[in-house]
Amino acid sequence: MPINEERFRDVLRNWASGVTVVTTRAGDKIHGMTVSAFSSVSAYPPLVLVCANQSSTTHGVIEQGGVFTVNILAAHQADISNVFASPENEDTRLESVSWSVGETGAPLIDEALACLECTVTSAHQEGSHTIYVGQVEAVHTSNAEPLIYYQGSYRALHDDD
Ligand SMILES: Cc1cc2nc3c(=O)[nH]c(=O)nc-3n(C[C@H](O)[C@H](O)[C@H](O)COP(=O)(O)O)c2cc1C
Repeated sequence: MPINEERFRDVLRNWASGVTVVTTRAGDKIHGMTVSAFSSVSAYPPLVLVCANQSSTTHGVIEQGGVFTVNILAAHQADISNVFASPENEDTRLESVSWSVGETGAPLIDEALACLECTVTSAHQEGSHTIYVGQVEAVHTSNAEPLIYYQGSYRALHDDD
């Protein structure tokens, strides 16, 4: 008997994670959303995964374009996380940040802690989400502190609470 959704969400609040914006492109359509479900999969070959809700617009664009870029947010980019998580400004999100076009065509967000440019190697539908596994084709890094998400709020590494 599976546990209920509320209990599941409550328990998962205890998992401290980084915060990413996953961007993607299919033809002229560029898009992105905030994602915490990101993980390294393999170093050789270099593979990572992201989990995208099948109801999200981002999901469809990744499916169509076959590329995604994981922009790992820096501590000062909590506002960007909020913008890319909000359904209200879905079509204007990318106008509110500075970005450049990466090798795959997907946006690289300026001042992100790191960007991993990926091509999709496999997609696995599980429950409400799809696990997109991507081969890392190019990386970009900067010297910044990470943004942390824990118990429903943003933290920095130097928080005392
Ligand atoms: C901190 C945080 C983490 C999130 N992580 C994910 C995630 O891992 N996968 C996902 O599908 N949605 C995640 N979301 C929700 C999406 O960002 C949100 O539903 C977004 O509006 C979807 O945008 P889209 O439909 O334009 O693609 C997260 C939201 C927040 C605030």
